[in-house]
Amino acid sequence: MRILGINALYHDPAAALLVDGRISAAAEEERFSRRKHGKRPVPFAAWELPELAAAWCLDSAGLRPEDLDAITYSFDPSLHLAPAELGVFDPWDELRHRYAVTAPDFLATALPGLDPSKVRFVPHHVAHAASAGLAAPFGGDCAVLVLDGRGEQHSHLAGVYSGGNLQTLYSQQLPHSLGLLYEDGTQHLGFLRSSDEYKVMALASYGKPRHLDYLRQHVHATGDGGFRTVGVEWDVLTKKREPAQPWGPEHADLAASLQAVLEEVLHDLATWLYEQSGSRNLALAGGVALNCVANTKLWRDSPFEQVWVQPAAGDAGTALGGALSAAQDLGDPMAPFTGADLGRGWSDDEIEQVLRTARLPFDRPADIAQDVATALADDSIVAWVQGRSEYGPRALGHRSLMAHPGREANLQRLNDVKGREQFRPVAPMVLASRASELFSGGPMPSPYMLFVHDVAPEWQQRIPAVVHVDGTARIQTVDPADEPLVARMLQSFEQQTGLPVVVNTSLNTAGRPMVDSPMDALECFGSTPVDLLAIGPFAVRRPALGSGR
Ligand SMILES: [Fe+2]
Repeated sequence: MRILGINALYHDPAAALLVDGRISAAAEEERFSRRKHGKRPVPFAAWELPELAAAWCLDSAGLRPEDLDAITYSFDPSLHLAPAELGVFDPWDELRHRYAVTAPDFLATALPGLDPSKVRFVPHHVAHAASAGLAAPFGGDCAVLVLDGRGEQHSHLAGVYSGGNLQTLYSQQLPHSLGLLYEDGTQHLGFLRSSDEYKVMALASYGKPRHLDYLRQHVHATGDGGFRTVGVEWDVLTKKREPAQPWGPEHADLAASLQAVLEEVLHDLATWLYEQSGSRNLALAGGVALNCVANTKLWRDSPFEQVWVQPAAGDAGTALGGALSAAQDLGDPMAPFTGADLGRGWSDDEIEQVLRTARLPFDRPADIAQDVATALADDSIVAWVQGRSEYGPRALGHRSLMAHPGREANLQRLNDVKGREQFRPVAPMVLASRASELFSGGPMPSPYMLFVHDVAPEWQQRIPAVVHVDGTARIQTVDPADEPLVARMLQSFEQQTGLPVVVNTSLNTAGRPMVDSPMDALECFGSTPVDLLAIGPFAVRRPALGSGR
C-alpha cells in the first residue's frame, strides 16, 4: 500500500509517505517554503496544505498522486463541535471546519491526479497516538498518552495499543487543555504562542515555582483520567511582559510555576494510565511531549518502565501518525521507526554542482568527519549538513551547528550566531558508549533530544557550554551503527580533546526554519560567522572567503 499522510489544519503542516508499511519519507512544509512552522496557526491559514512537502514525498519514491492507495488528513470534521459548545472562544472556527470538509478537493487540486475519494479523515488525537504508539520500538503493546493544544473536541487521549489496535481509555474534552494553558502562559510571558513554548521551559530553570499553589487550584487532574485547566488569571500572578521588555525574576518564577504544575498533572495522568492500561511502556505524543523536562520527570517518577517519544511529537507528526493508522487499518505490516532522517538529501555530485555554481572555493578532505573534529578542537564553529534532513524540530546530526563544549563562551557565541536569547541552552551530542559516564537521570540511549539528563559534577567544568543553569543537558546519544559519520567525528574530537561531546544546535538563524537544501546552507553560511561549512564530503572555509576569523 502507498499511503500519503497530511497534516495541515493547525500547526506545522507536514507530509509523510508510507510504502508497504515502511516510512519512505517525511518532511515539514517549512523546510521547503522557508517560513517557520509553515504558517501561523490561525483559522484563515487552515486551508494551507503542505503541497511542496507532499509533492517531494511522492517524487522521492517515484510515485504520482494517482498511484496512492490512501491519503490521510489528521483531523476529522465529522467530530467538530462549535466553539460555544466546547466553551472556547474561537470566532473564526467555522473557517477551520469548512476547510477541513473541503480538504479532499483541495488536495486533489494541489496534487493533480490524486483521487479525493481516497482521502481518509483520521481523528486528530488518533493520528497523534499512532505517531507514537505504532512507531515505538517496544516490540509490542504499549500505553499511549497524547497531550496538545486541541483537536476536534479534545486536548488529550489516554489509551493502549494492543496488537496494533488502539483502545481509548479517556479523552479530555475542551476547554480544558494543558497545551492551550502552556500557550497562554507563553503569550503572557511575552513570547510567541504556538511557537516559543520551549523558551518558557528554558526560562523555568531560572525561577522558583512560587505560584504553584494558586495554579493548582485551577490546574489539576480529576482522578478519572482527565484534568481541569480553566480559570487562571495570569495578571493576578505577574504583569504581562511585553516582547521587547527584558525578562526578570518574576517572569522566571511564573515560567517555573507553569512548568511545575504541568509536570504534576502529567504525573497524575500517567499514573492513572499505568493502572488502567496494564502496560509497562509508555509512548508520548502531542506538542506537550516536546517538553523534554516534563518527559524526563515522567520517565523518572511515573510507574512506567520505558518512555518513548517520537521525534516529531507535535502536529507535524500527525502526518506520519495518520498514515500509520491507515496502514494498520489496511493490514500493512509495520516497519519500526529507525531514525528521524526522513527528509531531503543530496548526492555528492549535486552538492558539488551547487558549490561550483556559487563559485565558492571548497575542498574535499580525505575524511570530512576528521576535518570537522580538528576544526572544532581549534574552537571553530561548524555548520554540518549531512545526509537526509530531520523530521521534527530537533537537529540530530544532519542539519547541525557545532562547537567545542569546553569553552563556556561558546554558548553565547552560538546564541549570537542564531540571534537567540542568552538564557537558551545549547545541547551536547555524546558517544552512546560514553554517555552514562557523563550523564544520568534520564533514559539511555536518548537519540532524539527529548529528555534532559543531569551532568555529572566532575564533568560540568569540562563541558560548561552545554550545562544549563540547573546542571542538566538535553543530550543526543550517538550510536555508530545508526550515525557512523557523526560518531566518527565525535571519536576524532575525543582523541584530540579528551571530550566525547560536541555542542549541537539546529542549523538556522532566528525566526527561520532549519537549513534543508545546499542552497539554504550557503545562505546561512554566508550570513553568519560560521567558520566551516561541512556539506557532504566538502569543506567550505571562512578564511577562503577572505574575512578570516
Ligand atoms: Fe495536535
